[in-house]
Amino acid sequence: MTDYALLISQLESLASEERDYIPVLSNASALLYWNLEDLNWAGFYLMDKGSLLLGPFQGKTACIRIAPGKGVCGAAVADDRTVVVKNVNEFPGHIACDSASNSEIVIPIHSKGRIIGVLDLDSTRPGRFSDEDRQGLEEFVKALERVTIFRDEKND
Ligand code: SME
Repeated sequence: MTDYALLISQLESLASEERDYIPVLSNASALLYWNLEDLNWAGFYLMDKGSLLLGPFQGKTACIRIAPGKGVCGAAVADDRTVVVKNVNEFPGHIACDSASNSEIVIPIHSKGRIIGVLDLDSTRPGRFSDEDRQGLEEFVKALERVTIFRDEKND
């Protein structure tokens, strides 16, 4: 089982040096990718002009823009909730960036009460993301929301 409390303290430690969203999200994707088993992609899509634009990630190259409501990422934004997909082949509209992916979790990220992006993890293992993973990752995203200065906050 992944030690999410440890990952969160590592994230907080990294962010104590610099809170800008580019280094924080880059290191967050590395923390997750290298500490969770059987991942083939870990990263972020950020809201940009009404759609989701590829952000910092670890893994193979991925689709650059996701239109509103499309794919698992778009569904998580539309419903403003975590979406866990045990078998991506059975999810209507799933966007296959890598055919090796079999399961996925997408968690919305908020800033000032609005969704500003999503955390997206893909796994080669069907049913990779348990309820414990969902809870741990939601806590990880809450920590991200606390420590990160996102793009729309840069000029405040
Ligand atoms: N599978 C996602 C697209 C992004 S990739 O997994 C990196 C989706 O259906 O939204």
